[in-house]
Amino acid sequence: MNYDYEPGAKNLKQNLNCIHIGANIVFLPKIDSTNNLAKEYAKSNAPEGLVIVADSQTGGRGRMGKSWHSPPKTGVYLSILLKPPLKTDQLSLITLVAGVSAIETINEFSHQSANLKWPNDILINGKKVCGLLCEMIPNKENPCFLVIGIGINANQVAGQFPEDLNKTATSLRIINGSPTNRLDVIQSLLKNIDREYHGFLTDGGNSVIKKWGFHSNLFGKRVSIQHGSTITTGTAMRIDSLGRLVLLLDNQHEEAFDSGEISLNKNYFEI
Ligand code: BTN
Repeated sequence: MNYDYEPGAKNLKQNLNCIHIGANIVFLPKIDSTNNLAKEYAKSNAPEGLVIVADSQTGGRGRMGKSWHSPPKTGVYLSILLKPPLKTDQLSLITLVAGVSAIETINEFSHQSANLKWPNDILINGKKVCGLLCEMIPNKENPCFLVIGIGINANQVAGQFPEDLNKTATSLRIINGSPTNRLDVIQSLLKNIDREYHGFLTDGGNSVIKKWGFHSNLFGKRVSIQHGSTITTGTAMRIDSLGRLVLLLDNQHEEAFDSGEISLNKNYFEI
């Protein structure tokens, strides 16, 4: 190893004291995508809690087929392999575990507080600082295999994002005006995920659902959700017991969504 994460990476594992996460941590200078590698490990039956961290990614992936810009020495790019005893309709709960863990880390390192944007984004001042990509590995047996991929904009400076992201992305460094130690961020993130995941296995998601609501300013707002070619508009009410966002529609019926692209209807910003 001879890159930015050396030599502190060696100490990280010893300081973790986690129950589920981080007994095996692989640090790499460069990879196409940490999610891709974690999925390869999953196929060869790697143990739960494996973490893949890369200094840079050449094919970092985001949601909806988008790419995730992943230059060296700037962002946190990591993936975690989990094998929760879940039914497929409970998978959204793991996204909540990842979101709550990541926002608590970001709030620890940011001088301004962050918000969760359903389902997978974390924003500061309306700009994206973190994205989550949770993927399931098809597996006939329970528990199912999941990869949680997390990208945090840590040390990008203004103008360092690709042109199309310059207005919509931010970083901890831009917010704070000073650089952030990425290994400290990773350590906090892994500890938070371990705690929230343990809580989820213990209480079935009650606590993480409450925390998600606390870190979001969505409830009570009028929103539109695009899912496939359909757009549904209503008032965001709550996260249900399966981790889905519940909208109250104009016909007074409720509908629950486990994915989609959300936008706020500005004319009805507060109700
Ligand atoms: C999104 O906001 O669209 C999700 C972005 C997820 C990016 C992370 S970086 C680490 C992991 N590896 C990937 O290829 N993607 C995720």
